[in-house]
Order: sequence, then structure tokens, then C-alpha cells
Amino acid sequence: MTAGILGTGYYVPERIITNKELEKTVDTTDEWIRTRTGIEERRIAADNEFVSDMGVRAAERAIQSAGIRKEDIGLVITATITGDNPWPASAALIQKKLGLGNTPAFDISAACSGFIYGIDIARSMVESGRYKNILLVAAEKLSSVTDWSDRNTCVLLGDGAGAAVIGPVETGGILSSVIYSDGASREMLYQPAGGSAMPATEETVKNKMHYLKMDGAEIYKLAVEKMPQALDEALKTAKITSEEVDFVIFHQANIRIIKSIAKRFKWPDEKNIINIQRYGNTSAATIPIALAEAVEQGRIKKGDIVAMSAFGAGLTWAGSIVKI
Ligand SMILES: CC(C)(COP(=O)(O)OP(=O)(O)OC[C@H]1O[C@@H](n2cnc3c(N)ncnc32)[C@H](O)[C@@H]1OP(=O)(O)O)[C@@H](O)C(=O)NCCC(=O)NCCS
Repeated sequence: MTAGILGTGYYVPERIITNKELEKTVDTTDEWIRTRTGIEERRIAADNEFVSDMGVRAAERAIQSAGIRKEDIGLVITATITGDNPWPASAALIQKKLGLGNTPAFDISAACSGFIYGIDIARSMVESGRYKNILLVAAEKLSSVTDWSDRNTCVLLGDGAGAAVIGPVETGGILSSVIYSDGASREMLYQPAGGSAMPATEETVKNKMHYLKMDGAEIYKLAVEKMPQALDEALKTAKITSEEVDFVIFHQANIRIIKSIAKRFKWPDEKNIINIQRYGNTSAATIPIALAEAVEQGRIKKGDIVAMSAFGAGLTWAGSIVKI
């Protein structure tokens, strides 16, 4: 049995923050952000809008596009690093809000690679025959861990959610998925406090230790090394050449990273699905938002071969080839 993507959906919050608005609060310029990152604006969730709320909206659209009933879902997996609470899982909240009875639900924490990690897990579970239809949701409220006074990070991030239903298919489907991690470099991109190593205290709050910290330059170097490696392996495993790929979707962290890797694989701009200019980096949600949006716009169609690759905190990196 082969697993495939049966349907996709996405949701982004209404509120838009433009680069111009950020110019008023941190020492930055629209010009710097556009040229160094490709980002023009990002969406920010409302104060009372959380990962589970955004996840449910994306999930409902994915279920509808898959043409199944929500009762047909056997498992809910949520990829997030900014869940409604540190625990329990946001997947359980999404399960409850969708009215899925006692359907099992759990979260995975693989940061920006979370959606492809989820594809790898869901695929194995469908192909083993254990579950039929799995709802995979990737949702982030990065604005809740953003230091809005740090120009190095606040200009990069945004909120949003993407979802996919993974189930058995007759033809095509998930042709390969490869996932990796390296915990040795975890402090290049992480949230220092709020876990068991550094529980919340007045001191941690005062020292801004609950915000995302990133060594941008080092992450950049590793991203342009690891994503091509994952893509090479994913293509080889799928027995697909780079010329056969119809579309590529990279994790949307920096347009310079995206374009330089696409160039190495000789993928022209028409094949490269890019929406970083409108949403910024929404961590696990970037790839499923871009995928669902391109499907909705009729750009990606049934039978197209889509390559995906991500890199992020953990460190984690991943690649997958899917025939839609
Ligand atoms: C963060 C990133 C955009 C920085 O771009 P860069 O071209 O590498 O910029 P540098 O780090 O060399 O910084 C250049 C200068 O711009 C400054 N700068 C940083 N943010 C700025 C901003 N928002 N506005 C204006 N200047 C800024 C820096 O302070 C630095 O100034 P200095 O030279 O006086 O110290 C880039 O490194 C990046 O995208 N990294 C990877 C991000 C990523 O993949 N993240 C996560 C995976 S989820």
C-alpha cells in the first residue's frame, strides 16, 4: 500500500504587519528586510487566537479538500513548537475542537522540518496498515516567542497553519521522505527557558530567555548545505531526476537560501513555489501553507511531482518527493 496526500488546507491570521510598520518599532528598514530575506509582510495571530485555533481552520479545509468525512480520520498529528500550552499536545485540542471523539492525537517537535517529519511518520503508519486517514497539521504562533525588540529575529517570523490528510492512494503518492537531526548544535536556534532545564522565574522573564534565539549566519550556512543533501537523497530514493520535478517547495526562511539551492538543482523560478514575501517564516507551517495555496490556485495539479525540503531547530532537516 502507498500513502499519499489526499487533501490540503491552510489558514493565516487576518492581521498583517508590513516591514514599514516594523521600521517604527526596531532599527530596521523595509529595504534591508526585502533584500536580505525576501519578506515584505507577515501575519500575526490575534491575542485570543492560538495554535489549535489556526490548526483547526487549516484542518477543516484539508478534510474538505480530501473529500472525506472527519469521522474517517484515525489519527491526528500536529507539528508545532509553539503549542497552546507546553503540554498537553495541541493535537489533542485540535482533535477535540474538530469533534473527533477519542481519536488518538499527539504532537511532534521538529521545528521547521516538522511537516516533513510528519509526512514520514504518517506515511509509515498508513503504509503499515495501522491507520487509514491521518490528519497532519503544522501550526505556529511564533509571535508568542518573538522578542519584538530584537531586529535580528523579529523581522523574520510570522504565524499561520497548514494541514494535509495522508491516506492510501492507488497511484503516485509519497515517493520518498528522509529526515535527519543533529542535537549537538541545538543552541544555534532555540528557546532557552520554559522547559525543565530552565523553568520560568522572574529572572528568566527579565532576561528575555523565553524568546527565540538564533545564530542567523551559522544557521544560514548549514541550511544551504543540509537541504540539498536531503533533496539529493529524497530524489535518489524516489528514483526521480531533478528534471522530472514539476514544483519545489522549500522551507520559507530566506529567499536567498531558497533561490541559491534551486539554482544548484537547475530549477527555474516557475517551478519554485515562494510565498515568503507575504508570510515570512512560520516554521513548521511554511511548506503546507505554500502547498495548499498552490493547489488552491490551480498551480499544483493532480499528477504533479513536488519536491520539498526543510531545515530548522534541533537541528533538523528533511526532504520528500510527493506525486500529488
Ligand atoms: C538572519 C539573516 C536574514 C541575516 O542576514 P545576513 O545577510 O546574514 O546578515 P548578517 O547576519 O550578516 O548581518 C548583517 C548586519 O545586518 C544587521 N541586521 C540584522 N538584522 C537587521 C535588520 N532587521 N535590519 C537592519 N539590519 C539588520 C546585523 O546587525 C549586522 O550588522 P553588523 O554587521 O553591524 O553587525 C540570515 O542570516 C538568515 O536568513 N539566516 C538563516 C535564517 C534561517 O534559516 N532561520 C531558520 C531556519 S528556521
